[in-house]
Amino acid sequence: MSAAVVTGGDPGRRQPIEHADTAVELAGIGLPSPVLTASGCAAAGRELDEFFDITELGAIVTKSIMLKPQAGRATPRMSETPSGMLNSIGLQGPGIDAFIENDLAWLNERGARTIVSIAGETVEEYGRLAAKLRSSGGFDAIEVNISCPNVADRGQVFACRAESAAQVVQTVRRSSDSRIPIFAKLSPDVTDIVEIADAVIRAGATGLSLINTLLGLVIDTTTMRPTLAGTTGGLSGPAIRPVALRCVWQVHQAFPAIPIIGMGGIRSGRDALEFLLAGATAVSVGTAIFHDPSAPSRIHAELAAEVRARGFDHVQDVIGFAHRANDSDVPSPTSAQHATTAQQESSSLEDWDFITE
Ligand code: DHB
Repeated sequence: MSAAVVTGGDPGRRQPIEHADTAVELAGIGLPSPVLTASGCAAAGRELDEFFDITELGAIVTKSIMLKPQAGRATPRMSETPSGMLNSIGLQGPGIDAFIENDLAWLNERGARTIVSIAGETVEEYGRLAAKLRSSGGFDAIEVNISCPNVADRGQVFACRAESAAQVVQTVRRSSDSRIPIFAKLSPDVTDIVEIADAVIRAGATGLSLINTLLGLVIDTTTMRPTLAGTTGGLSGPAIRPVALRCVWQVHQAFPAIPIIGMGGIRSGRDALEFLLAGATAVSVGTAIFHDPSAPSRIHAELAAEVRARGFDHVQDVIGFAHRANDSDVPSPTSAQHATTAQQESSSLEDWDFITE
């Protein structure tokens, strides 16, 4: 999508909003937008397509798929928290064969760029998943979910140890078409995320998805028991955004050439901009979708306006900007009015309530 001028809002106060060119290159893939869906929050995109044209997004990142069909955990599976959501779904899904036949086929027919998220219980399972995808083709990249918090035992959270994280990534790399980029999805629940990033990059990861949910717990004070049937769950939403941003910052600083998909509590174009400034090439929108199914499309438009309001013609040019020395060139905003308009667009999102309204 190229720079454009659109008008909207109250006709009496109508102001032109210029949008920056949103095209980015992610691990060699040309995307029309840096905004993607986050795995697990939009299944395979079919339902979202009823709210907006999913082909306008950078890509659909599918719910992590396992080898066999999974019924998932008992309910309740979701619980609201003061500024986020806790969930324990248990990787429910149809299994890789049905996924390829139905979901991937639909995404291809629809013309959506697709990043397939895979999850296994063992290193070998990841290899088999990658081999099946290699045979099917019809996708742009693999996201290797090695950080699902809702697994039978913590030993299966491969991303919590550099060695096991690297083993999975190496196996997926060896089982995949060498032209397919592989993104390793890391957990923030580690002492040093840069150490884990280093290990998976050495093992062949093309890029990184930062971050998965944090392991959390909610207790229902009426029943005096954990709210979720699975006891603990993954925390997502605005509460985790500063943690996610810190991880993107640290990893980009250590490995500036490695593409990062940033995610964690993004609800507005300004939130997305923060991630790009910290070093992410693309961003995934997740929890916000449950409250506002059009969020990825809205955030795409808001981001384009936010970037333009800061004097940039291309979104690609702000990636990693926050790491540059203070005296680097900042283009002057096209007009103060643009900055104000862009700020007004997202100011309504600044309140705390994000699910219940
Ligand atoms: C699930 C998987 C995840 O990767 C996550 O962050 C949260 C929940 C799940 O399917 O339970």
